[in-house]
Parts: sequence; C-alpha cells; structure tokens
Amino acid sequence: MRDMPLISVEGVSKRFRLPRTASDILTGRPPAAVHALNNVDLEVHRGETLGIVGESGCGKSTLARCLVRLLEPDEGLVRFDGKDIGLLPQAERRAFNRRVQMIFQDPYSSLNPRMSVRQVLSEALSVHAMRPKADIPARITELLGLVRLPADAANRYPHEFSGGQRQRIGIARALAVEPEVLVADELVSALDVSVQAQVINLLLDLQERLKLTVVFVAHDLRLVRHISHRVAVMYLGKVVETGPTEALFATPRHPYSKALLDAAPELDPARQTRVAAARGELPNPLDLPTGCLFNTRCPFAFERCFAERPNLSNRGPAHFAACHLTDFGKPTPATIAAQ
Ligand SMILES: Nc1ncnc2c1ncn2[C@@H]1O[C@H](COP(=O)(O)OP(=O)(O)OP(=O)(O)O)[C@@H](O)[C@H]1O
Ligand SMILES: [Mg+2]
Repeated sequence: MRDMPLISVEGVSKRFRLPRTASDILTGRPPAAVHALNNVDLEVHRGETLGIVGESGCGKSTLARCLVRLLEPDEGLVRFDGKDIGLLPQAERRAFNRRVQMIFQDPYSSLNPRMSVRQVLSEALSVHAMRPKADIPARITELLGLVRLPADAANRYPHEFSGGQRQRIGIARALAVEPEVLVADELVSALDVSVQAQVINLLLDLQERLKLTVVFVAHDLRLVRHISHRVAVMYLGKVVETGPTEALFATPRHPYSKALLDAAPELDPARQTRVAAARGELPNPLDLPTGCLFNTRCPFAFERCFAERPNLSNRGPAHFAACHLTDFGKPTPATIAAQ
C-alpha cells in the first residue's frame, strides 16, 4: 500500500467571477465566471517532486495557490497530512503556513526593494519565531550558504543581484521557516537558460538534503521531466493525466498529453513560434464543453465523450488518465522493450 499522501486535492473547483456587464444587468443574468479549476483530484507524496504542466491558462497557478491556501476553493477540499486545511484551527493553520511555502516566478516583485537580504531573512525567521534573536545572524549565514550565496550578500539589496541570485534569495527566505513543502510556480521561467540550470540543480540538491516535497509548476516539459518523479497534466482546469515521469513521457495515456508532448519544444514561452498542443481552438473557460473537456479538439472523440465527463482511472502503476478510451496509448510489447 502507498503512504498516505502529504497533500491531497479532492474535487477542487474554482471560478473567478467577472465584473457584471451592462447586458448582465439589463437581462438580470448573473455575471459570467471563468472556470479556472474543474473538479481537480491530485495527490502529492512526501519527498517527491511533482511536476504540473499544461498550456497557458489551464489553471496551474490557480491550483498552486489553492494548495498553499492563497486562494480558497469554491468546491472540494485540500488535505495536508490528512486534515482539511480549510478547517484547521488557528494554531495549526499557522503551522501549515510555515510548513508549506510558495516561491514565486518574479523575484523582483516578491522581494521588497527597500529591505536588505538580512532584513528579508530576519523577518522570515521572526514571523514564525524560528530562532532566538541571538542566533539569527548565524542562521542567516547558514541560509545563504545553503543557496550558495556568500555571507556578505546579507548586507546588500535586491537590485544589486542578478535574476538568478534573486531567485536564490527567494528560496533562502522560503527555507528560513524550515518548510516540508515548496510550491514553485514557474520558478525559472524568467531566467536565462544557463542560469536556469544552476537554480534547478540547487533545487534538486536542496530537495535531497532537506528531504523536501516539491510541487513544480512549469511550461518547460524538458525541465519538468528532468526534475520530477511524477507529472500531472492539466487541461482546462482539470488534471487529465498523472503518472510516473518516465511512464507518462514514454506512453502518454491521454490524447491531450500526447499532443502536448508532441508539441513540446514549441511550448517554451521563450520561443516566438508557439504551436498549439492540439488542433482547433482552446474552448472559452467561460463556457465549458459538456462531457469531456477535450472533446472539441480530440481526434478520437466518440458519442460518450460528448455526454459524460471522464474521471481519472488507472492505467498502470500509479498512472491515471481521465479518458473514455482506456486503451489509448497502451504500451505494446515493442514500446515496453524500447523503454
Ligand atoms: N484573478 C483572476 N480573475 C479572473 N480570472 C482569472 C484570475 N486568475 C486566473 N484567471 C483565469 O483562470 C484561468 C486559469 O489561470 P491560471 O493563471 O491558473 O493559468 P496557468 O495555467 O497558470 O497559466 P500560465 O501558464 O499562463 O501561467 C485563466 O483563464 C485565467 O485567465
Ligand atoms: Mg501560471
């Protein structure tokens, strides 16, 4: 039997209501809402790196924010260590806020330009009373060492650092409170490729040394493949496939995952020519298709796909896909031999 997941997302939906338009008011219609998450199920296991991928707008950041409770789901719940985080009493909620840390894409906007690195880290250490006051300077040096920055970085201000260094400061700030989980949303997307590798290697090293659980949201599939033990593919606010990284990349079991992987190099936002991961237009998240969310673009859709929305079902060891075509991508003896 597998361990109880450290985090489990159960049937989470999130809508963003748009401002009422004049025609809404005239017709008495309720304002339109973006269906950002639609009945998401997902597990994160202790000590693993879970990669979350999918095209822009599919709900990755919304899901990451629901995981750390920056956003409250409209339906469903998120459990941490078995407990519904929406129902935690205040003391446990504070502990949750410490144990699960989010690192943001843009260290320019997440670091206060008027605070030195020492102030940034001291603040993080004091908010959760991590160390007695006298031990703070030594801990700051230690944290900077962990992210491979020199001790004198403490006296400097965010603008004095490069993008990659700033991202390390963000990581040090997250680590200051000794979290168990890091949720990284597009951690390195804003960095040059050479700098990306350094930050990623640092993250891999820290994960192993500190036994962290990492949720890694990214556009770049090669990067996700490199660092994740497991991957979740999202489409229109739903997890459509999850599985061990190598199994999912070798034999995707959902037609959307296959299309996404086939389009992979062009998904990199750094490239100008972005190719859609599937034929046809992405449906409007204000007005979702009935049945399978992918039915408007799926070349294999049949009657049932327009009537009934598929749930995740088992496709192999720890491998799940939400598709009525249960044989889609099924490995043949030849593909197994090639792996
Ligand atoms: N605060 C908001 N108000 C209205 N709509 C929102 C809000 N935040 C997100 N959305 C919408 O919800 C959907 C999911 O957005 P989200 O940012 O989670 O996608 P994403 O997968 O992170 O995209 P990207 O890869 O571009 O970062 C999109 O249609 C987006 O426009
Ligand atoms: Mg995002």
